Formats: sequence, structure tokens, C-alpha cells
Amino acid sequence: MRTVYVNGEYVPENEATVSIFDRGFLFADGVYEVTTVVDGKLIGFAGHMERLQRSLSELKMNVDIDPDELLEIHRELVKRNDLDQGMIYLQVTRGAPDDRDFAFPPEGTEPTIVLFTQVKQVIGTSVETKGLKVISVEDLRWGRRDIKTVQLLYPSLAKMEAKARGADDAWMVQDGFVTEGTSNNAYIVKDGKIITRDLSTDILHGITRKSVLACAKLLQMDVEERPFTLEEAWNADEAFATSASGFTNPIVEIDGKKIGTGKPGPVGDRLRALYIEENRKSAI
Ligand code: PDD
Repeated sequence: MRTVYVNGEYVPENEATVSIFDRGFLFADGVYEVTTVVDGKLIGFAGHMERLQRSLSELKMNVDIDPDELLEIHRELVKRNDLDQGMIYLQVTRGAPDDRDFAFPPEGTEPTIVLFTQVKQVIGTSVETKGLKVISVEDLRWGRRDIKTVQLLYPSLAKMEAKARGADDAWMVQDGFVTEGTSNNAYIVKDGKIITRDLSTDILHGITRKSVLACAKLLQMDVEERPFTLEEAWNADEAFATSASGFTNPIVEIDGKKIGTGKPGPVGDRLRALYIEENRKSAI
């Protein structure tokens, strides 16, 4: 049984509780981060903590969280759960007032802070060699996708739609342009150039995206940050997605159309290898 963290305490998972009035539960009024663990160490931790602070501040959640303390909690959970490969999920909500109310709870209401580990093989997966199939769906999420909130119902529905149609994931499309995957950033490669949507409020500013683009620079690959259309994606030489726990995952089919050779492409493969090498070195 896992040991999890809830509001200052380490407890067995079946003893962890949160109030029914919690803003996260009633209003999806919370933000989260997922940090990957490899060799028992954290990948991209500083980036995740910076984004957490940004999400909190965009939602005007006055939470005083010390990143060093959060680092200690992450490490303690890795240790107590003997985690070698997987993720640590962290969620912060606006806390639990004593009733349901659209207005924010009074100043001084303690936030709810929850962390738990998830075991997942992240290196040497079958996806690396087989790739993923995606379908396209309209992007029906709210307009502040740069804030990592826990309102994940639409991505969850899109994922189920993908599964129902024999695919693995969905790429969301707004006005004909791909925004991102349900839980990853989206890329295509055409004539040797990597194309990925530029940062705005339309997409989450992926921590993996930043690191992968730095790897592309090291490899002297051409990168163009701009929206790309679904048609461009269908006709790309290669496609891939990035996320903390997936690193770079090859996309071999979009809407039933084979991308390139229909096999994972060389650009994604090289980026994945370098990403893993670099991030293993800097893991803490
Ligand atoms: N998802 N876009 C969306 C919509 C996401 O939910 C995620 C991450 C990403 C990639 O961001 P990063 O590289 O920082 O993981 C892009 C996490 C992993 C999740 O929900 O489990």
C-alpha cells in the first residue's frame, strides 16, 4: 500500500481524507503538477515548481509554498514508496471552507496539498517502438490552458473517444489548427523542420517541451514555433508528442492516416534519446 502526503502528514493511502467542501472537489478549483521519477530521482523538478507557482498566481491562490520543502516531500515519498520509475502527482486546491459558495473562501483558509506516487515504466516502453495512434477532436476546453488546473473532464472525454475509435489519444483542434494532445504537447516534422505550436494561453507550457526544444537546438535541428493545421499533420513526415511521463512519444497515425512511413521517425527518436540522457544527468 502506498504512503501518500496530505496536508503535512504522511499516511497510508486508505487513511488519506479531504473534506467534501474542498474547492477542488466542488469547483475544480485546484492546480497540479506531475513530475517524473527515473532511477529514484526527479526530472525537471525546478521547472515544475516554477509552473506551479505561476498557476497559483494566475488563479490568485495565495499559497505560501516553499519549493525546498516540496522537494523534501517529493524525495520522502520516493523513499517511503521505494519508487524507481514513475511519477509524483501533486495537487494544491483553494482549500475547504465550511460550505459551498462561488465566492472564494475567506483569507487564511488553508490550501489542500496532496501528493502521491504512481508506478509507471517510463524508459524502454513499447510505445517507443510501436508509436501511438491519435484521432482529432475539436478543442472544447476553456481559454486558459496555460494554467495547469485539475479541470480535466474534456481531455478525459477526448481520451475515451479515442479509445472507442481504436486509437490511443486525441489531438485537439481549434479553428483548423492543432492545439495539443489530451495530456501532451504536439509536434510534426516536415522537410527536416520541427513544427510545434507557439506558447500562448491556448496550450500548456510543457516542461518537457522546453527541454526537448533545447535538445533540438543542441542537435542543430530546425524548429518553427507556430500553429500547424490538421492537414499539415496528416501530411507530415513524422509526428510526436511530449509530456513529463511520456518524454517524446512517436505518433504513427492521425485520423487513420499513416504518418510518414507509419513507424516512429528519426527526429523524435534522436530527441528522445538526448532528452533522457540530459535529464538523467540533471535529475535530483
Ligand atoms: N500532462 N499539455 C497538456 C494538456 C498536459 O496535460 C500536459 C501534461 C502537457 C505536457 O506538459 P509537461 O511536459 O510539463 O508534462 C501538455 C500531465 C503529464 C498529466 O496530466 O498527467
